[in-house]
Amino acid sequence: MANVAVIGAQWGDEGKGKVVDWLASRADIVVRFQGGHNAGHTLVVGNQTYKLSLLPSGLVRGKLGVIGNGVVIDPEALLAEMDRVRAQGLDVSPAKLRIAENATLILPLHGAIDRAREAARGDRRIGTTGRGIGPAYEDKVARRAIRVCDLAEPATLSDKLDELLLHHNTLLRGLGAETFEKQALLDRLLALAPLILPHAEPVWERLDQARRAGQRILFEGAQAVMLDVDHGTYPYVTSSNTIAATAASGSGIGPGAVGFVLGIAKAYCTRVGSGPFPTELLDATGRLLGERGREFGTVTGRPRRCGWFDAALVRQAVKVGGIQGLALTKLDVLDGLAELRVCTGYTIGGQSFTHLPAAPGAQAAAQPVYETMEGWSGSTRGARSFAQLPAQAVKYVKRIEELVEAPVTLLSTSPERDDTILVRDPFED
Ligand code: IMP
Repeated sequence: MANVAVIGAQWGDEGKGKVVDWLASRADIVVRFQGGHNAGHTLVVGNQTYKLSLLPSGLVRGKLGVIGNGVVIDPEALLAEMDRVRAQGLDVSPAKLRIAENATLILPLHGAIDRAREAARGDRRIGTTGRGIGPAYEDKVARRAIRVCDLAEPATLSDKLDELLLHHNTLLRGLGAETFEKQALLDRLLALAPLILPHAEPVWERLDQARRAGQRILFEGAQAVMLDVDHGTYPYVTSSNTIAATAASGSGIGPGAVGFVLGIAKAYCTRVGSGPFPTELLDATGRLLGERGREFGTVTGRPRRCGWFDAALVRQAVKVGGIQGLALTKLDVLDGLAELRVCTGYTIGGQSFTHLPAAPGAQAAAQPVYETMEGWSGSTRGARSFAQLPAQAVKYVKRIEELVEAPVTLLSTSPERDDTILVRDPFED
């Protein structure tokens, strides 16, 4: 039985929540493998709206949710989110939510460092979510992170806090920010421990058993390929690898078990935070896309920057992300526009490029090369088959397929779960 990994193919916020929810209803286990509570997934199910940040979306469908070792977990944010969804009627007991014992924890000092560093960067800030994601990953690779399993060992916690505070308080002091006191942090962690530890286990073992039993595993990516710490628009990226390969390392399963890689892309393009965005529209069309698409961040509420579909960028994401099929979302936002543009490549200093080069100067200078297409006057909203789409909208989708060199296997035409055109079932591939 095939597994499926879902990843964003642009800069995040592609509407992964709905697609993951739709797929989760057909999976047995849903696994988060990277990122943290910087992610925001909105799921609309009937008249309930669930806003998930750290919890695997499958919980909404009563499926087993797994938080893998590649995720950075703010235990207080996790418990608050669990309380919130429990109040909406979801089961987030240890029977339904398993957490990798070797996942890294985010502590309050990580958020403080994140925000203090962003403030110090001034105009050159990355535009992070301020949630401590980057500093927590830094601690992980620096081998000083506190992990979920450490919550069971007060002496380990105490030693690790000494090392962490030596490092972080020095930095915080230098940045003119408030420092942290060890005992208060230790008390806080020890108080959280009994609430987190019942969920902790070697999740790699559970996933191995599930795979052998032929269960369907859905790997739920957060952020997107262009925010990947290696392949994205560095340094304006998040601090984890967001590509599908991370589903294996971030959960403890072999790469062969990741299965079909479904990339999610909006029919246009958005970005939050700073960084290059070649097709950004700073005009009335950009504002229109933002209003119609309700483009405000789920996590921070920040308005998203909007622009035309960048096929060169998505083609790059398809290649480095291993994307085998594309789910195209929010086509309805383009309804009624007389003319549409699709970026097919860039010119940088008079030279032509079919991809976005890695150097920041070149990325900032990249001028999009556009192909113009006629828009459509009819509505695509709520369509459930290609036959219900205006002919020009079908042409637009087909052209995107050609340009990005990947088939559109799923088309989403409204926030409602059932307003989806399925071309190919990723679980059957
Ligand atoms: P961080 O992940 O908080 O360090 O933020 C780094 C960059 O990634 C910033 O530009 C954020 O706006 C962006 N980012 C992080 N998480 C998401 C997400 O879920 N959707 C879109 N952008 C995100």
